[in-house]
Amino acid sequence: MIELTINGKVHRLDADPDMPLLWAIRDILGLTGTKYGCGVAQCGACTVHVDGVATRSCVIPLQSAAGSTVTTIEALGGTHALQKAWEALQVPQCGYCQSGQIMSAAALLKETPKPTDAEIDAAMDGNLCRCGTYPRIKAAIKRAAGIAS
Ligand code: FES
Ligand code: FES
Repeated sequence: MIELTINGKVHRLDADPDMPLLWAIRDILGLTGTKYGCGVAQCGACTVHVDGVATRSCVIPLQSAAGSTVTTIEALGGTHALQKAWEALQVPQCGYCQSGQIMSAAALLKETPKPTDAEIDAAMDGNLCRCGTYPRIKAAIKRAAGIAS
């Protein structure tokens, strides 16, 4: 039995300890906002926060997350400043990568409320977007942070 807190609720999961955290989030808990892209920590689609740190959930064994506090895109509730900026600037195209993008951006702004361009680039570097929405992502992060683009 593995116990962890997800979006403020304690869960005790009777699951394979080697199962990727992403599988537990999506298939056991039904939180499907977090996406599967590459499965090898190369795209960022599966990004969640583990104890506040942006983490690729596709490569974290469930047992490594035991006792942790996990936050997924669902916890942002659609009202986070980043989500409002994303909507205002119509950031998504196909949308597949976007929850991972927002979770990486959310971790950045929590640590660094007014990031520089270089800090944004560094934080978002591992989040790929096949649709090339990078300029709008950056603009939306700045908007949410109250920084003029
Ligand atoms: S699915 Fe996890 S980084 Fe691509
Ligand atoms: S919006 Fe399509 S992959 Fe990013």
